[in-house]
Amino acid sequence: MPYYSDELIEEIRSANDIVDVISGYVRLQKKGSAHFGLCPFHNEKTPSFSVSQNKQMYYCFGCGAGGNVITFLMQYENDTFQEALQALAQRAGIELPRQELSDRARRESDRRTKILEINKAAAKYFYAQLRMEQGTTAMEYFRKRGLSQETLKKFGLGYSNKFRDDLYKYLQKQGYEDSLLKDSGVVAIDEKRGGYDKFWNRVMFPIMDANNRVVGFGGRVLGEGEPKYLNSPETVIFDKSRNLYGLNLARCTRKHYILLCEGYMDVIALHQAGFDNAVASLGTAFTQGHANLLKRFTKEVYCTFDSDGAGIKAALRAIPILKEAGITVKIVKMDPYKDPDELIKAKGAEAYEERIAQAQNSFLFEIEVLEQQYNLKDPESKTKFYNDVAGKILEFEEELERENYIEAVAQKYQTGYENLRKLVMHQGARAGIVKERRPLKSGVQEKKKKEDGMKQSQKLMLTWLIEEPSLFEKLKSCLGPEDFTEELYRQAAEILFAQYQEGKLNPAGIVSMFTDEEQQREIAALFNASLKEITTPAEKQKAVKETLIRLKENSINYRSKHLNPTDLEGLQKLVTDKKNMQKLYRME
Ligand code: UTP
Ligand code: MN
Repeated sequence: MPYYSDELIEEIRSANDIVDVISGYVRLQKKGSAHFGLCPFHNEKTPSFSVSQNKQMYYCFGCGAGGNVITFLMQYENDTFQEALQALAQRAGIELPRQELSDRARRESDRRTKILEINKAAAKYFYAQLRMEQGTTAMEYFRKRGLSQETLKKFGLGYSNKFRDDLYKYLQKQGYEDSLLKDSGVVAIDEKRGGYDKFWNRVMFPIMDANNRVVGFGGRVLGEGEPKYLNSPETVIFDKSRNLYGLNLARCTRKHYILLCEGYMDVIALHQAGFDNAVASLGTAFTQGHANLLKRFTKEVYCTFDSDGAGIKAALRAIPILKEAGITVKIVKMDPYKDPDELIKAKGAEAYEERIAQAQNSFLFEIEVLEQQYNLKDPESKTKFYNDVAGKILEFEEELERENYIEAVAQKYQTGYENLRKLVMHQGARAGIVKERRPLKSGVQEKKKKEDGMKQSQKLMLTWLIEEPSLFEKLKSCLGPEDFTEELYRQAAEILFAQYQEGKLNPAGIVSMFTDEEQQREIAALFNASLKEITTPAEKQKAVKETLIRLKENSINYRSKHLNPTDLEGLQKLVTDKKNMQKLYRME
């Protein structure tokens, strides 16, 4: 992973004006000192998304999204910190230091680059073939399947013609050697026959990675034939278990969930019908790698698989993998239609939208499938079924969750809640999983509440210090970064105090000192709450004083407990601080 210095990060950040950058994504209008627009991170009708040129920060008053120009790209494009930084460096024409590579690593990197080039060249070739005389039947095929010209373009669809080696010859002419072509996945090289194309007389679906680079192809026969789809083999650039078809488009959706389907055509039909959040795995089973990839983009996945046995099996397989990655799963039912493509053709986008709204909880779906293996009219079989269900319910770690599912299953199968609950408890006790119900001790809750309050006070104080430089002047003799006992706030305070000392406050710079998105978000929020809500100066003074006292008391308390006894300077400061508390209490 490349490492960039704080100075370089700051140089890149400040070279990209936040209003300029965000204007490329959101329509902004100037209102007072800020620019406002519709928030791209949640659905809204009136603008509560603000961008401040002075602070070089954005903040949404509706959903709390916020940060600097780097965070914006991370959130909007689902980039990692490094990716966002690279994009901004490129935008500002700043050269990033190339990592020192070993000779071998450089050769490999060059090879990858060339193989990417070859795949891109092949995609262009197929794309052009579709639009030529020999592509007429293929074009007719796409038309019959209801794809618009716009869709063909959006997905870069093409055609591999009937000649056995014209792509090979074309690529050779471009100067690529056999050894490279052999590894590109689009041609095969045979001792006897020489080089020939992998795809003949098929409609071609280029597979793009999340960054829009062509990494492979799927090719479908026109009409009937075996195999229906032929796919590129795995290559140095194509790892099937880490790529999802359509993710390059779906990554920019504004919907909070992803539609996971089975096939190329489903993804395309869904996008054409306005569902810009559809992706599919590539003719391979869904893997942990896919789940981890999706996790970067969403917390919720709707499986919209074929209604046949294979589709159900695929769903049963994907559910635990997705859950394991921390993703919530729902199942969209297609029957009596075969797949999303068919349903939309028959009933239209609204009908599909309805299916999404009715999507089933993944656990209840699993139970429903399980049920088919039993005969619920037979008492013995029925008992076995409930025992199986109880076992599955036990897989939930949280007691509350288990209770909720016991309730849901009891309701669905019209069986006694208590009986089912006993069954679960009984099995759990045997397995040593479920402990007796114990109410949360109120002491624990009290303590948690106090901690939250303290965090709140520290946050408030930081916000005020940022908003009002005069306040900083007033408090700097009695307040320091060490008074912020919350780790994240202490770090922010240290940077802030140092910036004040140097006389140059730079909020956006503080944000990029944190590379974790969650932390950035929290720091960004600090810069957007304000003292202005408190109206009269007297009220304000009172609020500041009370918060200051709370903060100091907490920090003295904390330091008394945690101070290293050999830290004389720290001890001295603690004693002075304690003495000064009397002054604080009397302060006006
Ligand atoms: P389907 O047969 O459901 O494909 O297989 P589909 O996309 O709905 O195709 P149409 O509508 O008949 O054109 C689902 C997915 O499984 C993979 C492909 O990725 C396909 O999209 N597959 C299927 C193969 O890789 N090879 C095959 O021979 C068949
Ligand atoms: Mn299908």
